[in-house]
Amino acid sequence: MSGRESFWLVNLHPEPLDVRGEVAAGLAATPKHLAPKLFYDAAGSRLFDRITRQPEYYLTRTETDILRRFGAEMVRLAPRGAVLVELGSGTSRKTCWLLDHWTAGDLYVPVDISADALRIAARRLKRRYPHLGIRALVADYTAPVAWENYAPSPRLVAFLGSTIGNFEPEAAVRFLARLGAAVRPGGAVLVGVDLKKDVDALLRAYNDAAGVTARFNLNLLARCNRELGADFDLGAFGHAVRWNAAAGRIEMHLVSLRAQDVRVAGRCVHFAAGETIHTENSYKFTPEEFERLAAAAGLATRHIWFDADRRFGVYALVPR
Ligand code: SAH
Ligand code: AVI
Repeated sequence: MSGRESFWLVNLHPEPLDVRGEVAAGLAATPKHLAPKLFYDAAGSRLFDRITRQPEYYLTRTETDILRRFGAEMVRLAPRGAVLVELGSGTSRKTCWLLDHWTAGDLYVPVDISADALRIAARRLKRRYPHLGIRALVADYTAPVAWENYAPSPRLVAFLGSTIGNFEPEAAVRFLARLGAAVRPGGAVLVGVDLKKDVDALLRAYNDAAGVTARFNLNLLARCNRELGADFDLGAFGHAVRWNAAAGRIEMHLVSLRAQDVRVAGRCVHFAAGETIHTENSYKFTPEEFERLAAAAGLATRHIWFDADRRFGVYALVPR
């Protein structure tokens, strides 16, 4: 907790044991994979922030535009006395387009796995909104440890940035169903969703010319070296992006550029030349596909706000 700075920062996240377990399990599996939540250490959060400013990564710009235009309408979904909860809030930079109009209540609860991102965001927001209560929670929002305990009901829960696209569809349904249960009574869920579009534009968004996304991906290996004493040679792995048409998702992989053995978390892990570590899926949806996904979670779509080119949608979902 951070008393002197007049916001709370509560750490509900049991690190670094987790990182070791996740990495050991993911690299022992076939095919090898690492969970995208591992991207966001201090260096990874900074790199993600740089990704959002790359010309090819249209997602953040487009969603920010939607929030700027329609934020006042969005916050009207919140009943009186509501708490604004934001999951995976990162820098909370877009959130000002909601907070500027936020009159339903006086508490904002950002939840993120990155303590560094949260601390910076909470400090900045406290300066901009001195009367707003801020309870920043360092937590894995998928873990049963409940952010619910720190955010009294009713709630408007925002899940922006198309982070829902990083879940497998069945997990997305379970997660949305849990949010639906958590916002009762009278609350709502706001979800930012990246929409299906021209495949080249999608591939470019995940492989920017400046190489920032490649560094973000490779930072996973750098993190293993820093935190687990692994000996990954970063020059021996490459960044690969694929569109998986059947699944409707962008995939990020780290490709082993030669046959090699790496020591990580006390084990020796063998990589064949060309073998990959699957590091992220970013599912893309048509507006109807996402509406069906939400319906499977028991949520009705109250409204969808789009940009002019329908590249991105912000969904207002309410329990049916
Ligand atoms: N909402 C912001 C940030 C998106 S990046 C935006 O739209 O720009 C994804 C964010 O989710 C990061 O800040 C990352 O630290 C956080 N995150 C990823 N997996 C998480 C998890 N399992 N639990 C909590 N936070 C997570
Ligand atoms: C956080 N998440 C929605 C981003 C995405 O687009 O899937 C993470 C990211 N990965 C590569 N670039 C950005």
